[in-house]
Amino acid sequence: MVALELAIMTCCSSECFESTFNDRRARQQLKRYRKRGPDKTTRMLLDALRAAGIRNASLLDVGAGIGVVHHELLAEGARSAIHVDAARPHIRLAEEEATRRGHAAHVTFVLGDFVGLAEDIAAADVVTLDRVICCYPDMEQLVAKSAARANRLYGAVFPRERRGVKVVSALQNLLWKVLGNPFRSYIHSTAAIDAALRRQGLAPLSVTDTVLWRVAVYSRG
Ligand SMILES: C[S@@+](CC[C@H](N)C(=O)[O-])C[C@H]1O[C@@H](n2cnc3c(N)ncnc32)[C@H](O)[C@@H]1O
Repeated sequence: MVALELAIMTCCSSECFESTFNDRRARQQLKRYRKRGPDKTTRMLLDALRAAGIRNASLLDVGAGIGVVHHELLAEGARSAIHVDAARPHIRLAEEEATRRGHAAHVTFVLGDFVGLAEDIAAADVVTLDRVICCYPDMEQLVAKSAARANRLYGAVFPRERRGVKVVSALQNLLWKVLGNPFRSYIHSTAAIDAALRRQGLAPLSVTDTVLWRVAVYSRG
């Protein structure tokens, strides 16, 4: 009974993620990406990774959505990518886009909760979590397990811990609750994310803030 309640309260199953990251949303995102390119904070993340060097790198994109990070970096000389996402519609459209761009042979698609799958997923030169940490209740596990797989660089975009951001997140969660949607967003402590990354041997390389988001790249060694 307790396990059942936890499964309902926390979002770790594909069904839960797909209550928000559904086919309609994935199609909208792909359409917008094809028309306008990556969103602003994704562009910032990509710029920081390019500056640190991605040529010939292997990528692990956790919560990759429609795959924007690897579509961009494979086109610029990255070698291969592992795309992990818990939502089927996003993986489907990411595969479609990878095929359209001629990169499909270089991408391995994995469906499921990364935290549960992590032991079976290979390490990569560059690990990215673009707007993913805020989708997951257990930040410590998600960050520790993904950071442990970063051989060289770790890039993440996550919401800043500001009062306004917390209010928006709380209102959004209330709306989801009223609508019977089990998905929730989380504003995790920035200091706790930083500490979790440092415990895995990573140190900050570049950190840039927008009003809502932090774009951080950490490096090993
Ligand atoms: C807000 S979307 C961001 C997608 C993409 N990274 C981007 O920035 O366009 C969050 C994505 O992370 C996925 N996700 C969240 N937590 C996950 C986890 N623990 N394992 C796998 N996928 C996860 C969701 O299914 C969703 O597709």
